[in-house]
Amino acid sequence: MAAFVAAGDRTALPPGSPGAVADVDGWLADKVHQRRLDGEGVHLAIVEQATDKIVGSIGLRDTDWEAGRTEIGYGVHTSQRGRGYATEAAHAVGRWALTDGGMRRVQLHSRVDNVASLRVAEKAGYQREGTLRMVEQEGGETYDLAVFSMIATGTPTDNEVAPVR
Ligand SMILES: CC(C)(COP(=O)(O)OP(=O)(O)OC[C@H]1O[C@@H](n2cnc3c(N)ncnc32)[C@H](O)[C@@H]1OP(=O)(O)O)[C@@H](O)C(=O)NCCC(=O)NCCS
Repeated sequence: MAAFVAAGDRTALPPGSPGAVADVDGWLADKVHQRRLDGEGVHLAIVEQATDKIVGSIGLRDTDWEAGRTEIGYGVHTSQRGRGYATEAAHAVGRWALTDGGMRRVQLHSRVDNVASLRVAEKAGYQREGTLRMVEQEGGETYDLAVFSMIATGTPTDNEVAPVR
């Protein structure tokens, strides 16, 4: 994590991660571990099996245990994109949340202009439910968000992984 922060590539780091290496330890203790202990969600690293190298991050947040609902988000280092890592991780973490995690619904929001993320959601087995119009503001612009979900009670085809080309 410190290496990612030092390199200044924030895309593989979860939202809220520190901008300075000196703050990484505190962030891991106060935010990453605390999030898990509080039951709010988890921050996980996406690790390349062959090399043990961290290539990205994936997390669950805004977990509502009563409703059985959580939200997934992910990022992959720019140098490691297009290799299927986000798709594999989003599928695996979604299934894990619905089985071991006891969730009923894993939801995913993606800006409609984030073509790579929309494609990941589809390929990882999330079903598109609709569009939240003009729901997000950034830099004076307003954006639409696509809503996807993977659910525990659906038929197997509801969460099917799209064939990888
Ligand atoms: C979105 C993101 C995680 C994808 O990671 P990745 O490991 O490259 O994803 P995958 O390799 O599993 O799949 C990417 C898919 O998007 C497609 N894609 C990527 N850029 C694209 C573009 N500009 N136009 C069309 N398709 C695109 C790829 O071709 C691939 O689909 P394919 O297998 O059908 O060819 C990565 O781009 C990223 O970290 N972006 C910044 C953070 C972010 O936007 N996170 C999501 C927030 S909702």
